[in-house]
Amino acid sequence: MPVSRDPSGHLVLGGVRLAAVAAHAGTPTYVYDLDAIAVEARAMQAAFDGAAHMVAYAVKANSAGAIVATLAAEGCGADIVSGAELLVALGCGVPPEKIVYNGVAKTDDELDRAVAAGIGAIQTESVEEIGRIEARARAAGKRARVSIRMNPAVDLDGATHAHIATGHDRAKFGVPRDQVGRAVELVEGSQDLRLVGITSHVGSHFTDVGPYLAAARVLFGVVKDLRGGGRLRSLEYVDTGGGFGVAYSDDVVVPPPPAFVRAAREEQRAAGLSDLALYVEPGRSLVAAHGVLLARVVQTKTSSVGRWVMIDAGMNDLIRPALYQAHHRIVPVEGPATREGFLPWRVVGPVCESSDDFGEHPLPRDPPALVAVLDAGAYGYTMASRYNGRQLPVEVFLRGGRIAGETKRLVPEEWAHERLSAGREA
Ligand code: LLP
Repeated sequence: MPVSRDPSGHLVLGGVRLAAVAAHAGTPTYVYDLDAIAVEARAMQAAFDGAAHMVAYAVKANSAGAIVATLAAEGCGADIVSGAELLVALGCGVPPEKIVYNGVAKTDDELDRAVAAGIGAIQTESVEEIGRIEARARAAGKRARVSIRMNPAVDLDGATHAHIATGHDRAKFGVPRDQVGRAVELVEGSQDLRLVGITSHVGSHFTDVGPYLAAARVLFGVVKDLRGGGRLRSLEYVDTGGGFGVAYSDDVVVPPPPAFVRAAREEQRAAGLSDLALYVEPGRSLVAAHGVLLARVVQTKTSSVGRWVMIDAGMNDLIRPALYQAHHRIVPVEGPATREGFLPWRVVGPVCESSDDFGEHPLPRDPPALVAVLDAGAYGYTMASRYNGRQLPVEVFLRGGRIAGETKRLVPEEWAHERLSAGREA
């Protein structure tokens, strides 16, 4: 369950009062409910009704060890995009064969690591990359398992934010549809490679299954045609990617993640591809709702034109509002259950950028000491930076109604020391 408010007005996550977490860990702090993340994963797995599948969790959404390990324990695999994410996935107990590796510019070092680990598939994103994977596999004396990430070139204009739409033909992602045949020939013709999957991922945060299905239909059609032509004999799976949206506000209704899975399975059946496993690569939908960012109100400011609440979390901690004009609800951590007497306040952070602005939010006339930025479990900490001499936020992990783990907060001296000594050491 995402956050709730107990009868005395305390905001609660994972059975723990968030005010107590802030008192313990300070702010700004991300807090995650590991139990709820496990439940989320189980619901997604159940949507496959026992059919061959893999839920490859997109580690980029939240790479905290406790979270990746929780999902691995639920049977999830991992979708990674770097050699570093590979290390996290393996270290959290994801079996190598359950790891798929996306990304448009994998370096030779990263390919070597993936080949050595014997991962489930290196998902190639261009015809040009295939020869590079082949060379690394040959150098290692191993046959690398490869899938082809196809760009289905579906125009999903308006279906999601332009920055997170990847399935159009001007995107750097994926093998263009008209080159898939060539890519298949290259992989199938290589002694060092084995073609195991055909995949796509067309964007993130779809709030409707329509665009996701449109892309899946194109993918399945291509697989069917290639098979009809006698290709893809070694194929083990099709992968329709991630992108299941979440409701960032009270007034939107987003289909639950299993609805995306069920719709894709239906489409797979209709295409006559039920003999293949279906992989999905969800990130956001597994973790977003089960994390919050706690912040302290530093001060307010009022003028003839505006009214600001200034908090100690900024765009360096959560960049989504600045980068995608995302609106995350911001609510008092201790406060009345109703919004009676609330005023619209503009909530801003401390960073010296006009875009360090979390938007307008209803808050009490006398703002509370602590606020929570909701639905911050995905693409929050993983996109955080230390801009303006700020520390990375800390993270607290809840399990079984108590704090099960936390990270250490660095002090300003550590940032200052590192920058002071930059380029000055003998
Ligand atoms: N698979 C691939 C190949 C991806 O590139 C992504 C996300 C996913 C899976 C997971 O997508 P999800 O299920 O989380 O939508 N920082 C942005 C989102 C960027 C997504 C990048 N790729 C945000 O905060 O909205």
